[in-house]
Amino acid sequence: MGFKKLIGDQLIRSLMITSKLTRSIRSLYYKIHYHFKTPKKIQINSIMRRTFKSKSFITIPNFLDKEQINLVKKELKEEKYFSISDIRENRNNNRLIDLINNKVYWYEYPNSIFKQYNYLKDKKSISNSGILKKVEDYASQLNKLSMRVETIECYLTKPVEEKIFNSQWHKDGDHKSSIRCLIYLSNVNDTTKGQLQVRRKDFFEEFFGDEGDCILFQNSILEHRGINTCKERLCLNIKLCPGSKPLRNYIYDYEINYQGSLFW
Ligand SMILES: [Fe+2]
Repeated sequence: MGFKKLIGDQLIRSLMITSKLTRSIRSLYYKIHYHFKTPKKIQINSIMRRTFKSKSFITIPNFLDKEQINLVKKELKEEKYFSISDIRENRNNNRLIDLINNKVYWYEYPNSIFKQYNYLKDKKSISNSGILKKVEDYASQLNKLSMRVETIECYLTKPVEEKIFNSQWHKDGDHKSSIRCLIYLSNVNDTTKGQLQVRRKDFFEEFFGDEGDCILFQNSILEHRGINTCKERLCLNIKLCPGSKPLRNYIYDYEINYQGSLFW
C-alpha cells in the first residue's frame, strides 16, 4: 500500500513538472495571441490594471445592463436546476490534491449542498447574451493574456439557519493566471449578508454590491470565502483560464464546481 502510494505520488509530481514546462510555452503563445488576435472592445484603464496587479482583484459596478440581469434572473427563477442524481451519476467524484501546493482540484460536494444552493443547469442563453464575451474581454486585458471562459455556475443561495460561514478560507486549485468573475444578481449588503470576502497578509476586504455589480479576482492566488446569506441570493460565477479557442459548448455539460484541467 505504502509503496503504491509512493509511486503514485512520484508520478503525479513528474506530471506536474512536465505540465509546468508546457504551461510556460503555452503562456507565451497566449500572450502573443492577446496582442495580435484578441478583440479589445472595452478599454480598461491603467488604474484598473494596476489595482488588479497589486490587490489581485477589482470590482466593477453595473457590469451587467438591465436586460442581461433580467435574462439571468428569469433563467434562475425558472428552476431548471441540477439535482443530486445529476451530480452523482455523471461525475467522477475524485478528490485529487496537488502535492506541491496542497490545493484541491475536484471537490466532492456533500448532498447537503442542495439545501444551500440551487445550481442552474442550462446556461446556453447566458452565453448568447454576450455576458461571457464581455467577461473574457476584461479578463484578457487585466492579464494581458488571451483568456477564455472555462466554467459557468449560476446559482441561487438559500438562507441557512446556522450561523456558520458557508465556506472556509481557501484558494482554488486552478492555473495561477485563472480569474473568477462573480456577478451579483441580487443586492448584497450588510443586512442581507452573503458577501464574498477576500484576504491576503496585508489586507482583508468584503465585496458588497448591487445586482449587476461584479468582482474579478485571481482565485488561485487570493484567499476567499463566502458568507452565509440571510436573504435568497442570485449569482453568476464564471471561471476563466488562459486560452485562445472560442467557447466550447461542452462546458455546459460540466456540473458544479468543475476545476478545469489539472495539467493545464
Ligand atoms: Fe473558491
